[in-house]
Amino acid sequence: MKLTDMNKDQLNAFEQACRNEYEEYKAKGMKLDMSRGKPGVDQLDICMPMFDVFTNSASMITEDGIDCRNYGELTGISDAKRLFGELLGVASDEIIIGGNSSLAMMYDTVSRALSHGVLGSKQPWNKYEKIKFLCPAPGYDRHFAICEHFGIEMIPVPMNPDGPDMDMVEKLVSENETIKGIWCVPLYSNPEGIAYSDEVVRRFANLSPKAEDFRIFWDNAYCVHHLTDTPDHILNILDECKKTGKEDMVFIFASTSKISFPGAGVAIMAGSAANMKQITKLMGIQCISYDKINQLRHVKYFKNVDGIMAHMAKHREIIAPKFRLVLDMLNDNMQDLNILEWNSPNGGYFISVNTLDGCAKRVVQLCREAGVVLTAAGATFPYGIDPRDRNIRIAPTYPPLSELEEAMKIFCISVKLAAAEKLLG
Ligand SMILES: Cc1ncc(COP(=O)(O)O)c(C=O)c1O
Repeated sequence: MKLTDMNKDQLNAFEQACRNEYEEYKAKGMKLDMSRGKPGVDQLDICMPMFDVFTNSASMITEDGIDCRNYGELTGISDAKRLFGELLGVASDEIIIGGNSSLAMMYDTVSRALSHGVLGSKQPWNKYEKIKFLCPAPGYDRHFAICEHFGIEMIPVPMNPDGPDMDMVEKLVSENETIKGIWCVPLYSNPEGIAYSDEVVRRFANLSPKAEDFRIFWDNAYCVHHLTDTPDHILNILDECKKTGKEDMVFIFASTSKISFPGAGVAIMAGSAANMKQITKLMGIQCISYDKINQLRHVKYFKNVDGIMAHMAKHREIIAPKFRLVLDMLNDNMQDLNILEWNSPNGGYFISVNTLDGCAKRVVQLCREAGVVLTAAGATFPYGIDPRDRNIRIAPTYPPLSELEEAMKIFCISVKLAAAEKLLG
């Protein structure tokens, strides 16, 4: 029966039953973490042979004779540019292989734009009294944190099932010169697992921003992170931008954090050759060269794009059952109650849920008090403010299946309890 159809007596009885069950779980004193999208230990283990690829010093020389143990090749070794360029569908002069974190590359890109501008800027972004970024929300909290850190005003843009609300994006960027960027996670978006439709990608490539130095920050973090036999695909944004003659408008980012090792993978930035050239010049002040040994280790281990895809199939084998468990438990526990909506993503690292309005913070609190850590409610919105206080990001990958099941029991009962409390006022 729908909770919203219950009369007061029924609701009171429901609430009491939930509270009793909740207190039983709480008494168990569990400690479970579903807060961040981290691979599980078993996922990390499958990549261990990567550490066996070097046998001697000669094996640390690239195909074109670069000794990876020494300085040089600021924009990355050509072997890595070939591999990751093929993965992202960009040429070797359209890619920079960075350090261990794409988030750091995004941070640096924003920082450089503030201090020096981007290609085509009339002046550095920090010369404006105020600049703004569009932030499709719910979105990735660390994107929003970069804006907040630099004092960039964030304008939330609603997400539709096929991507951000493009009517709003087109209108805002065409009217306001201080809107300098937009954050996008185009495939298996964090947290909703949405893939941008072809139409949305084309509309991005066709934007006519008032700011001539406007940039789309295209964070393709989950480009190969499929979970089903019917994976989603997105159009190549750089190709689409070339068709509209606007190839300088996009910065693409990706990394192997959730392919090989988070924090010890390889980060990638891509875009027009002209953009890459302007960035390389500024990057050269900051760094002599990134970790080429790690770049070559990745190339030798994966060999080619097929190697990456075969490796990702192993990840899928490990994490798809975790997503299945969460979705099955939501179906079994929640379907008839009409108090929770959720998505069934074809890939990525998250399941996004919406509670009844005004319940997300309470659910996270109840879970925390019973020993389950979730991402803070509101974190998926700019400034940590979810206007409807309803979105929660579930990250099922890190805990083992048995712990995940316990955590989800507590999650489900917390959602029920919070909804009953809300309806009872
Ligand atoms: C959308 C998105 N971008 C970037 C990152 C972080 O990537 P990296 O480890 O390359 O800094 C994450 C991690 O969760 C993410 O979800």
